Amino acid sequence: MISLVVLAAVARLVGTAAATQSDPLPLPPMGFNNWARFMTNINESIFVDAAEAMSKNGLLAAGYNRINLDDAWSTKERAANGEMVWDPVKFPNGLPWLTAHLKSKGFIPGIYTDAGNVSCGGYPGALHHEEIDHETFTSWSFEYLKIDGCNMPDHSEATYHEVYGRWHEILSGADHPMILSDSAPAYFSGEIAGTNNMTDWYTVMGWASAYGQLARHSADILVYPDGIYGGGSSWVSMLYNYGQEVRLARYQRPGYFNDPDFLNVDHPSYTLDEGKSHFALWCSFSAPLIISANIPALSQEEIDYLTNKDLLAVNQDRLVQQATLVSSGQTWDVLTKSLENGDRLLTILNKGSSTGDLTVSWESIGLSSKALRRANYVSAKNLWTGEQVKVSVKDGGITAKAIPSHGTAVFRIAKSISPVTPTGIIFNTNTTNCLTDNKSGHVTFAQCDGSDAQTWRVRPHGNINSLLRPDECIVDAQGAILSRHSGCRTDAWTYELSGNLINNNSKLCLTEGANGAATATSCGYELNEQVVGLPVGVTVVGITV
Ligand SMILES: *[C@@H]1O[C@H](CO)[C@@H](O)[C@H](O)[C@H]1NC(C)=O
Ligand SMILES: *[C@@H]1O[C@H](CO)[C@@H](O)[C@H](O)[C@H]1NC(C)=O
Ligand SMILES: *[C@@H]1O[C@H](CO)[C@@H](O)[C@H](O)[C@H]1NC(C)=O
Ligand SMILES: *[C@@H]1O[C@H](CO)[C@@H](O)[C@H](O)[C@H]1NC(C)=O
Ligand SMILES: *[C@@H]1O[C@H](CO)[C@@H](O)[C@H](O)[C@H]1NC(C)=O
Ligand SMILES: *[C@@H]1O[C@H](CO)[C@@H](O)[C@H](O)[C@H]1NC(C)=O
Repeated sequence: MISLVVLAAVARLVGTAAATQSDPLPLPPMGFNNWARFMTNINESIFVDAAEAMSKNGLLAAGYNRINLDDAWSTKERAANGEMVWDPVKFPNGLPWLTAHLKSKGFIPGIYTDAGNVSCGGYPGALHHEEIDHETFTSWSFEYLKIDGCNMPDHSEATYHEVYGRWHEILSGADHPMILSDSAPAYFSGEIAGTNNMTDWYTVMGWASAYGQLARHSADILVYPDGIYGGGSSWVSMLYNYGQEVRLARYQRPGYFNDPDFLNVDHPSYTLDEGKSHFALWCSFSAPLIISANIPALSQEEIDYLTNKDLLAVNQDRLVQQATLVSSGQTWDVLTKSLENGDRLLTILNKGSSTGDLTVSWESIGLSSKALRRANYVSAKNLWTGEQVKVSVKDGGITAKAIPSHGTAVFRIAKSISPVTPTGIIFNTNTTNCLTDNKSGHVTFAQCDGSDAQTWRVRPHGNINSLLRPDECIVDAQGAILSRHSGCRTDAWTYELSGNLINNNSKLCLTEGANGAATATSCGYELNEQVVGLPVGVTVVGITV
């Protein structure tokens, strides 16, 4: 839960190295949390009933094995000895009973606190009580801790870093460290912080991704429309969080997952196709799959898509790549990533208002038509229908037919004889403008339109070419970015965790200048105009904490 406050950007803390902790969570967590469905109206029955329903309806068997409490489980005051106290009315049997009960049913229990002095919902926060609260949560047998970021002493990046750093030390020093879900980055995302300056957001993402196993990076997904919270479109809310997630792909790695928030699948404003797209996108991202819904009341259709084995295998794939955009236009978004066995994922989202078909070329998928010529066909599985297809190489790519408005097509393309090249848009993660090639060789930043002029291949030696001009590569020509044949021999580029794309020769950073100019200028610290998103699979160099 996040309060919409205007955060003042102050100094950042420089140069503290993060201890690399052993990864207790190699794969994205799956389970249940009360927040988006019940907010603060919680009690023991919600969690007991959710667990029972999940055991019966196949969710537990499908891998949803976490039951996480969110805000409002405690009394409004600590005990005289300083400890947190569970609300005895909401939890008549107590939290140790609840965790034992959940564990006996095969679930792993998680709990919530707030890094500030008061939680978002007005309950005691953990500030200056970190040690005692950690001991309490451990003694109650919780194994997962979400730490929200309301009501901190101030809104500076340095303060958040210091307080979350304290938690990191405590948790990583424990015998069996709890999973840490930290919400700090959300408080620095543009809309919530009320700023156009994204530098602090990127900085917080850097340390949050080293401190926790997952981090909430932006707004809460729309909560259930009860009397207090009103209505709204969950599709719009979901697409907003999706749009934030795609800016941050470079941070995800085994053991750390960007968290675009809950699967609020039973929000009544979703159509079935929209709910399925929400799920398919979160699976494509290898994002946490934490359902926040009234589980006992889920429909069979909802259970069916939430337990789709092929999509869950994509989510839980051991490479845990976050799919990135191949292209993005008015109607279509196309995403890809690689899977551990060498398969490619292709996810196509129809943002438009009518049903449509789309063909995605082999090159866009990251394959080579030339290499594929030695084969007759490419095998693919449609993950929504389960249909296996053999697509003739001569067809030029994969065609998805009749994708409904707000629906998604997902294909798992079997490993082929073609090598895989990271391919997709290169975009400024502040303006979301796409690096755009031009037949003249002139390169600019322009609104993303889904064209081949905006789909780039990042080759093994760091040369980068667009699909529009496959024989040319971008170069830093005295500060101006051009696309030229000579660049493929001489100009390598390096992508850093800071989001900078740096020319190996000039050491200058790709920069979006005024009016969409694409230039190479001296690298600053995570500047709006120099932080870009690249296709997943490109090596990301450096850890900045
Ligand atoms: C953006 O924020 C960073 C970190 O707080 C600061 O150093 C920088 O000067 C800001 N940039 C602008 C253009 O205000
Ligand atoms: C528990 O909370 C749910 C949702 O707020 C409510 O419907 C139910 O009546 C409550 N049960 C008890 C025993 O208080
Ligand atoms: C929390 O901190 C704020 C200022 O940092 C203070 O005004 C407030 O009284 C504190 N609240 C509690 C419950 O400690
Ligand atoms: C970041 O992008 C927003 C939206 O396009 C724009 O208003 C703002 O000026 C940009 N900030 C910088 C420093 O480029
Ligand atoms: C391509 O560049 C030429 C000249 O540099 C310019 O006139 C034209 O508008 C550009 N086209 C696009 C699609 O940007
Ligand atoms: C480019 O620079 C990076 C980082 O310094 C280095 O790892 C890489 O090998 C260089 N690539 C080439 C082709 O020189």
